[in-house]
Amino acid sequence: MGNEEITSTPESRTHFRELVAIGLVASVIGVSLGLVIDWFPTQATEQGERVDTLWDVLIICSVPVFVLVIVVVLYCVWRYRMKPGEELKDGPPIHGNTKLEIVWTAIPAVILVALCSYAYAVLRDVEEADARALNVEVVGQQFTWTFYYKDANGKRIASPQLYVPRGRQVNFTVKSDDVIHDFWVPAFRLKIDAVPGISTHLRATPKTVGQYPVVCAELCGIGHAAMRQTAHVVEPDEFETWLANGGRPPGEADETGAGAGAPDGKTVFGDNGCGGCHALADAGTTGGTGPNLDEVLPDKNAAFIEKSIVDPGAEIAPGYSDIMPPSFGQTLQPAELDARVKDLDEVAGK
Ligand code: CUA
Repeated sequence: MGNEEITSTPESRTHFRELVAIGLVASVIGVSLGLVIDWFPTQATEQGERVDTLWDVLIICSVPVFVLVIVVVLYCVWRYRMKPGEELKDGPPIHGNTKLEIVWTAIPAVILVALCSYAYAVLRDVEEADARALNVEVVGQQFTWTFYYKDANGKRIASPQLYVPRGRQVNFTVKSDDVIHDFWVPAFRLKIDAVPGISTHLRATPKTVGQYPVVCAELCGIGHAAMRQTAHVVEPDEFETWLANGGRPPGEADETGAGAGAPDGKTVFGDNGCGGCHALADAGTTGGTGPNLDEVLPDKNAAFIEKSIVDPGAEIAPGYSDIMPPSFGQTLQPAELDARVKDLDEVAGK
């Protein structure tokens, strides 16, 4: 069937104006709510500003479309619901309306092309490389992240915590040792998969000093939820000191054990996310992925504890799998490892 004349009556014109008015009011309320509600955690990078603006533009463009559809549906339910005795009031069905179809295809097409172009421009922007960028290698494995740096002498430094200087672009090269993980710092507003066999890249320019969660955003196995660490955005001079100190905060011992104060075993337990997988009453942790340390430690000696940390696959507790990261022997400094073993041995001796 071709186009048929749709007759309008004074009543239908009133209804149309009513519908448009309700739709406009509802859209304004919807967009306002979308913009006023604080959806995200603190934003800590320059790239994050562009991403948050993109989000706001998407809210402004998409909420009215959603609201309009819902308003039309609810309005029709309210105005045109058939009451008993009205069964024959409907006119003949209408088939096709070329003008209307062109309009409702063209408008979404224009909106989509505009939003895609804008999003592409934002992507180009946040991926723009800075020649002065600091290179950090991020390696994911079940179930921890390790961050690798090069110090002034080109020596490779491994850290279980992410440290980055404020105001300088960081070029993250992301890898995986086993399965697919996803490197995500919500405060940076950027994330990328860590895929075995290839390197992926992410650039972020931290702008706000603080500590932010590093999260794994790809279901990677039983300890996925425990794969959380901390990103420290620090002042540039503090970062240089940290790097020169072999990847430890100033004041903490270097790898020879020298420095102000020896590392504290309880801090080592917390910083390395041990409690994500292990319950230990002394540390107040309840993780259930790995053996409960309060139960398994009492009859173990210090040598066994140390071996279990640096070579966790050597002996697997009954009922558990070989999933503890084998990297702690590499990322923990000897002094930290000693402190951790000593602390666990004391806890076990209680
Ligand atoms: Cu690694 Cu989820």
